Amino acid sequence: MQVIPVNLQERSYEIEISPGALDRAGVALASLGDVSRVVLVSDDVVDNLYGVRVAESIVDRGLDLDVIVVEHGEESKSIEVAYSLWEQLLELGADRKSVIAALGGGVVGDLAGFVAATYARGLRYFQIPTTLLAQVDSSVGGKTAIDLPKCKNIVGAFHQPSGVLADTTTLQDLSAKDYVSGLGEVVKYGVSLDSELFDMLERNVDAITSRDAQTLEKIVAKCCSIKSEIVAADERETSGRRALLNYGHTFGHSLEAALGYGAIPHGHGVLVGSILAARLAQRLGASGDARFSAIDDAWLDRQLALYRNLGLPTSLHDLGRDYGDAPETTPQRLVELMASDKKTEFGKLNFILPVALGECVYAKDVAADDALAVLR
Ligand code: GLY
Repeated sequence: MQVIPVNLQERSYEIEISPGALDRAGVALASLGDVSRVVLVSDDVVDNLYGVRVAESIVDRGLDLDVIVVEHGEESKSIEVAYSLWEQLLELGADRKSVIAALGGGVVGDLAGFVAATYARGLRYFQIPTTLLAQVDSSVGGKTAIDLPKCKNIVGAFHQPSGVLADTTTLQDLSAKDYVSGLGEVVKYGVSLDSELFDMLERNVDAITSRDAQTLEKIVAKCCSIKSEIVAADERETSGRRALLNYGHTFGHSLEAALGYGAIPHGHGVLVGSILAARLAQRLGASGDARFSAIDDAWLDRQLALYRNLGLPTSLHDLGRDYGDAPETTPQRLVELMASDKKTEFGKLNFILPVALGECVYAKDVAADDALAVLR
């Protein structure tokens, strides 16, 4: 078992990562103290797989339990579903001592977290992430959100969970697509923030593709500890440090938006976006920006080799092969979408770009022409 602390003064909590952790849900929730009831929020697919097991573990600890199941998929991150959850919490008599437990991937975690942040001006919530993407990224750090039809994650709140429990055996049940999507966030940490992790990924390609439990436990723990340190330093993304978690995301979000949210998994957008971001850094370096002088062909080849060895998409062409060709992804359209991204300050293009292996910078005010050039 690995335990990673997230140090945020009175909002501190622990991330517990182990095979079989689902059976410890009751113990972990009871240990929060003063819990009147647990409201377990899950989606239909995850509930079928693990709902009974987690519910038994909670009831075994003598806690009152209610279960709310939403439909799987990004559509559930909507105001309608949040509204239905608020109403159900009211009917169930949820009070300040109630804890919402999110069992599932990023959609369930973001939705349940948002409802916890807003109901009765804030209830405690607990994350039980079951996808790789949720275990290494979205369950940690307190970003909660729902989508508007035209913009993902635009309505939300920072609300830290009271704890995170990640069972790495659930990763065996993921579809290849969801596993690859989670690996998108994993390689992101390695390329942009931690060269040791990058080396470890290079050395363990077979163990990763065969989903070896011990290797995955180490990888999830490593990613969570990188994220925990960054979140502790910049909880609300004000200093620019937390924004460094977004390598690959400017291009990635524009791809997701162009194709329609949910058409490609988030991690696939990040993967292709991170290669495009590396090409952008290479281009800026070649045109005299000294920060990016180390991003040359050899650097890019090493990144591409890791992605290819892990079977990850690296180009729009790869996405087209897997998800159908998409005329919406013209360079012009993608740049327009990037310019309207909610994180864009005053219409300038912002990117997280690599400067060395495991190191990146927040590059503000990149010219649209440079972004266009790497998309062509
Ligand atoms: N996924 C990026 C963050 O949590 O800040």
